[in-house]
Amino acid sequence: MSDVEREIIRLRTELNRHNHRYYVENNPEISDQEYDMMMHRLEALEHDYPEFDDPYSPTRRVGSDITKGFTQAEHIYPMLSLSNTYSVEEVDSWVCRVDDALAGQKTEIVGEMKFDGTGISLIYEHGRLVRAVTRGDGEKGDVVTDNVMTIRSIPLQLSGSGWPDFFEIRGEIVLPWKAFERLNEERAFNEEPLFANPRNAAAGTLKLQNSAEVSRRGLDAYLYYLLGDNLPFDTHYENMEAARSWGFKVSDSMALLHNIDEIDSYIRKWDVARKELPVATDGLVFKVNSLRQQLNLGFRAKSPRWAIAYKFQAERALTRLRFVSFDVGRMGIITPVANLEPVLLSGTIVKRASLHNEDIIHTLGIHEHDMLYVEKGGEIIPKITGVDTDKRTDGAKPVRFITHCPACGARLVRIEGEAAWVCPDKYHCPPQIIGRIEHFVGRRMMDIDGIGAETAKVLYDKGLVRNIADLYDLKADDLENIEGFGRRSAERVIDGIAQSLQVPFDRVLFALSIPYVGETTAKKIARNVRSIDWLMSLSRIDLESIEDVGPRIADSILEFFSTESNIAVIDRLRTAGVRLELPEVEETDKSDKLTGKTIVISGVFSHYSRDQYKDIIERNGGKNSGSISKKTDFVLAGENMGPAKLEKARNLGVPVISEDEFLKMIE
Ligand code: IVH
Repeated sequence: MSDVEREIIRLRTELNRHNHRYYVENNPEISDQEYDMMMHRLEALEHDYPEFDDPYSPTRRVGSDITKGFTQAEHIYPMLSLSNTYSVEEVDSWVCRVDDALAGQKTEIVGEMKFDGTGISLIYEHGRLVRAVTRGDGEKGDVVTDNVMTIRSIPLQLSGSGWPDFFEIRGEIVLPWKAFERLNEERAFNEEPLFANPRNAAAGTLKLQNSAEVSRRGLDAYLYYLLGDNLPFDTHYENMEAARSWGFKVSDSMALLHNIDEIDSYIRKWDVARKELPVATDGLVFKVNSLRQQLNLGFRAKSPRWAIAYKFQAERALTRLRFVSFDVGRMGIITPVANLEPVLLSGTIVKRASLHNEDIIHTLGIHEHDMLYVEKGGEIIPKITGVDTDKRTDGAKPVRFITHCPACGARLVRIEGEAAWVCPDKYHCPPQIIGRIEHFVGRRMMDIDGIGAETAKVLYDKGLVRNIADLYDLKADDLENIEGFGRRSAERVIDGIAQSLQVPFDRVLFALSIPYVGETTAKKIARNVRSIDWLMSLSRIDLESIEDVGPRIADSILEFFSTESNIAVIDRLRTAGVRLELPEVEETDKSDKLTGKTIVISGVFSHYSRDQYKDIIERNGGKNSGSISKKTDFVLAGENMGPAKLEKARNLGVPVISEDEFLKMIE
């Protein structure tokens, strides 16, 4: 086998492996730039040595985002990608190639941001959004219209005038930095895997089955490409300005450029200025402005000749590994953390970076005191992307994962099929117990103010709170002796603990930290079983018949309730007065609080069923109605309210009221 052939095979194998890490495991090991370089190198070799051609080469493959559970639609025009480069010189030579091909015609170039999200195609008929489709494999994609309709910046009905009766507009669905950070904070809190960057978060969100959750996460969309037979103008720039006037969000960074100097200074400007933007960008896109010239230039196999993407360098630093420490989470998961010599990266000092799990340590081949590459790029959480092996000290040993829990000494176990090591001693391992106390008092659980991570640890260390039931025996005097507490703040905490007796059962269930029972699952279970006693009596088959409960969750619930110490805690919570069931609707609850009001119920509820709410409305003097109109006084909205209904209520100015607000309203 020749060296060239060997190299081609090596690159293909490596690229296939990285594709899997990126698309399937959602856990890339190398930076986008390294990936692109490898791909470019393979493309070049395949071009120069066509005898080694292979229809299965990764260069032939356009990634696909097709997910089961969505219907698919063919794209009217295939959704291609852009050829890209990391060098300004290559952008300049692209301009020269375009000029040559157009034989000296005057060319204008449009510069715009390359948004780092997930591509979308929107179809409008008679000014109304009729369909939204993901990129898919470029030929066909998933229909995600319902989810896209929840994105406020996408007009459902166009304004202004002059749009063609039928057209397509393409753009990027993005999750703004702020929304991304909020989402990851929530996920960290629930010990759910974090999204590595806003792009993955946007793509994941767009494919959710629950559009109310999509709406809550706060997606946004920038549009950058208008397609159709009767476009209003024959330049890209004017068409996008027209689209802006119809109500689409078109980036203000779009600019007309006339020569290489202007292009170079556009690059210099946005390389810095993009850091101030509210959304992630990974480069710039340059497009020939005239549609006629675009047509002349045409397409290559996967990308147009009339456009090129310039990608920003990910910010990277090299620093020394001091040591690897191991954190223990609420669920016992052990996370290795690289403790680094402090280094400045994208304006912040980085001292720690998560190494996620044992596999990553091994694939990177990290040795003690290695020089490590830390990257931020689109990622908010610094990431270790590689090792400078030339700078390795002689005799350095590979970093080894621990075998015993750093907090309690228990022998670690590895969950089957997962990369994580776990400390199995749930009931004696201090960080796990403290983590559960912290979770229990959290805002979305029992909402007890004044006990944060530190206080939870002090209460545990002093022996005052060794499990969540102990909280209900706390006295103001106990707290007053703790540093940072005065009489007033101690009393406030005690008051908060008393108030927590009003927290409904579904939140109590979530607060218990049953592994894999997150907020939504807890709601669904509570709605189904209505009481903890009923839940405890269920068999595995009964459990699995509850929506969202699969074998893993069922096992976890069974294990939780077969543990004696958990039962003891639940008994004490019951004695303290914590709500362990959903209330029955009482016949006597009657009033005239809703007299004369017409109310529409929509969505799924957690405290009572839909029918019970209809009943409650009537017994309080209100009238139920099936559809929203100008006569509707308000919509009582649970989860999963359809986006079309939401939009209709908004257009008619009908208030939308949550379940909690409604219950407050009628007491
Ligand atoms: S134009 C035929 N413009 O980047 C070319 N794409 O790597 C159509 N993207 O699939 C794409 N910002 O999802 C274009 N201003 C922009 C863009 C942009 C982000 C994405 C898009 C595309 C990918 C290509």
